[in-house]
Amino acid sequence: MIKRIAVIPGDGIGVEVTAEAVKVLETLTRSSALAVELVTFDWGAEKYLREGVTLPEGALEMLRREFHALFIGALGDPRVPDMKHAVDILLGARFGLDLYVNERPVKLLDARLCPLKGRKEEDVNFVVLRENTEGAYVGIGGNFKRDTEEEIAVQEDVNTRKGIERILVYAFEYARQHGLKKVCMSDKANALPFGHGLWQRTFAAVRERYPEIESWHLYVDALAMQMVKNPAQFQVIVTCNMFGDILSDLGAQLQGGLGLAASGNINPGNVSMFEPVHGSAPKYAGKNLANPMAAILTVAMMLDYLGFPGEAARVEGAVVEAIHQDRTTSDLGGALGTRQVGDWICSRL
Ligand code: NAD
Ligand code: IPM
Ligand code: MN
Repeated sequence: MIKRIAVIPGDGIGVEVTAEAVKVLETLTRSSALAVELVTFDWGAEKYLREGVTLPEGALEMLRREFHALFIGALGDPRVPDMKHAVDILLGARFGLDLYVNERPVKLLDARLCPLKGRKEEDVNFVVLRENTEGAYVGIGGNFKRDTEEEIAVQEDVNTRKGIERILVYAFEYARQHGLKKVCMSDKANALPFGHGLWQRTFAAVRERYPEIESWHLYVDALAMQMVKNPAQFQVIVTCNMFGDILSDLGAQLQGGLGLAASGNINPGNVSMFEPVHGSAPKYAGKNLANPMAAILTVAMMLDYLGFPGEAARVEGAVVEAIHQDRTTSDLGGALGTRQVGDWICSRL
């Protein structure tokens, strides 16, 4: 069956890395059993500034009805300081399509890229599973007495038992399906006893159902320290929306930087959205400098999700080969541009 993929290049380097991701998909369709149809949408800062439109009306229903997956480059533009379009499009899709899992693998593909001393590839290989539909991201709150000396800002942190339970269950099931033995849940219940106390109590109940998996808890500050001190201890990390955001950038650097970090926003069994962890990196935009590997590894995640594990492995293999042979952009110490790295990877598929 043909898989239909909605492609949203977005802003800044999102456009450039998406072009390389698309090249990879097109190369694969010529040389494998993969059959995909790509439809590009121009949603992003340009459209917003030109037409005042962020996520067009009915877009989410259309995506749900007509597509198997979405691929997003990045959203964010200095001309839109309040990120209105990114909130509507990116968070709109995460919430509107109920993509409750943000799966962010942290995998060291070449030991030379790790900023920690003396680590091997097997020392950095875990996944951050970030709750993706609630927490501090729900946009509930407001400003009272705005722009006065008495101003008050309230930003609510929403945690539901159902929301917590489903991401915890996903984490344990993920471990089971991947033959992994360890799940670490992280929160900040010592300072946030109501919201994160619920994480603790829900975790206590869910972990009972998975006695064969070693599960434990770390406060997020201690987890950040342990990720640097001894990343080899982690296989699956599960946490709330905001902590997952922060920890996944920390994890990205453990594997060589944001230019390599892939992610999937997943609603198991339903239309899901794939995007590199990085943003639109305005200072690199339009210069053929951005590393397209995060986007290309994101294509691999998407293919795996869509039922093409062989093609996904081929893409990852080609990226690893490019790194080993120093066919990389400057962030990884190489001399190639965005397009040249993409071309080289396609030549190995
Ligand atoms: P960023 O991830 O865009 O970039 C931070 C730095 O990381 C860059 O300056 C660059 O040095 C490096 N970097 C990131 N991606 C790279 C790549 N592919 N190749 C080489 N180096 C890379 O984060 P930021 O500067 O904080 O944010 C820029 C804009 O992007 C903001 O508007 C932000 O809100 C948005 N953003 C969007 C997403 C998303 O769409 N998913 C994610 C993060 C940030
Ligand atoms: C990410 C980004 C987004 C987030 C921003 C752009 C809202 O940082 O995907 O990691 O915080 O989720
Ligand atoms: Mn982030």
